Amino acid sequence: MHMIDRESLTKLLEPRGQTHLLAFWDELDSQQRTDLAKQVANLDLDLISSLYRGDVDLPDWADLSRRATPPPAVRLTERRAGTGGDLGVTDVQAIQRGEAALRDGKVGVILTAGGQGSRLGFELPKSLYPIGPISKASLLQIHIEKVRATAAKFDVNVPLYVMTSPATHADTVRFLADNDNFGLTDHDLTVFCQGCMPAVDIETGHLLLADKHQLFMSPNGHGGTIAALEDSGALDAMRQRGIEQLFYLQVDNPLVPICDPALIGYHILANSELASLTIAKQEPQDKLGNFAMIDGRLHVIEYSDLPDDVAQQRDEHGELKFWAGSIAVHVFERALLERAVEIKETLPFHIARKNVPHIGADGTHVTPTEPNALKFEKFIFDLLPAAQRPIVVEYAEAECFAPLKNAPGAPKDTPEYVQRMLLAQHHRWLTAAGASIADRVDVEISPLYALDAAAVEQRLPPDHFFDKSEYLRD
Ligand code: UTP
Repeated sequence: MHMIDRESLTKLLEPRGQTHLLAFWDELDSQQRTDLAKQVANLDLDLISSLYRGDVDLPDWADLSRRATPPPAVRLTERRAGTGGDLGVTDVQAIQRGEAALRDGKVGVILTAGGQGSRLGFELPKSLYPIGPISKASLLQIHIEKVRATAAKFDVNVPLYVMTSPATHADTVRFLADNDNFGLTDHDLTVFCQGCMPAVDIETGHLLLADKHQLFMSPNGHGGTIAALEDSGALDAMRQRGIEQLFYLQVDNPLVPICDPALIGYHILANSELASLTIAKQEPQDKLGNFAMIDGRLHVIEYSDLPDDVAQQRDEHGELKFWAGSIAVHVFERALLERAVEIKETLPFHIARKNVPHIGADGTHVTPTEPNALKFEKFIFDLLPAAQRPIVVEYAEAECFAPLKNAPGAPKDTPEYVQRMLLAQHHRWLTAAGASIADRVDVEISPLYALDAAAVEQRLPPDHFFDKSEYLRD
């Protein structure tokens, strides 16, 4: 309360060159002054200055990648051949182990849905986007139905922890309430909110105002999951429930095989703290993070940080040396998340240049068409080096990866693309089960009808013919 006068705020802001935040002080009412003062008091101004000045040690990825090696892996060919890869564990064994963990109620799910989804240009949080090709089910509904279907299959409770941000929280909570959590009980659903970071002007390092009494703030990156899990008490709740493995995914990809027993099983049988799902890169410069071991630790090297000559390197079989792409799907051992709480401050900030609308010096709203600001975000994959005995497990891209990033009409990762990928998977499952589908007919499958090809085969009458588009649901 002691800092709501202009003098104290000036004293705080002046040494950091941020007094412009008080430019409209005389126009603010007392509530607005209190709001602004509170926000200023919550800032770590020294951290912001040092991030802007760039006096943080950024890894020399070019150098590091030259001594990196491919990660311990189970390749798809080995899984299909039943030979087990670097682990010597077969798919059958992994699936049995994963199923046992699920049946024992040891597995929970973390879904991050705090991003602003700015590229998609949808006015609501991305998780509410009606992506179902026929059903118009939202991303959130599809994920929740997978969690429910898993719980039903193994006759257990599978808790879901959904991370929102101040940008998405209220709409997400309302949407869940309006739809009865899509059938998930309150006991099995926790919604927790991540923190925010301010943005600064690229040229001056000045903090940006969203309004005359409000700093521009945006979610602090999916790396904010760690702090948010702790601050919300969700991590404690997991421990109390006896949850050991957390299946982690991001909301924009409805193809994720949530709680896939094979991934969980490989994780457990490798005694790993982190098993990551990976897809094989098609081209050296594919826009995916690259899994790589550096000094015995697993890292994701962003595609923009991997020098071309390293990206081009091939092994003795002519395959890309850094073949393993990350799609941000992991199984975390709870113990790793607990340790991460201890080291969360040391996770680095990544700096992105973005267009940030703000209040200009003359008090008018400015909507930039070029990047004008730096945003600061933590990334979940910076936790990977802390993991003991990490392993990556390869999946076919068509079975696990269709991210919704861009607005309709963009060249890639659009709603049309995601819907095509969903339908293609469902059609594969149906034809594998002996069904035939007429031309120009689409069949969408709710996770509650079937979670995978085997479940379709069990439910579908033999030689079924689809002559009109249909949504198969429970
Ligand atoms: P992206 O970095 O692709 O961001 O996040 P986005 O919000 O989906 O889209 P753009 O970049 O603004 O267009 C990947 C995933 O991480 C989550 C997002 O919700 C998405 O599922 N995320 C991202 C968070 O939960 N919090 C964040 O601060 C950032």
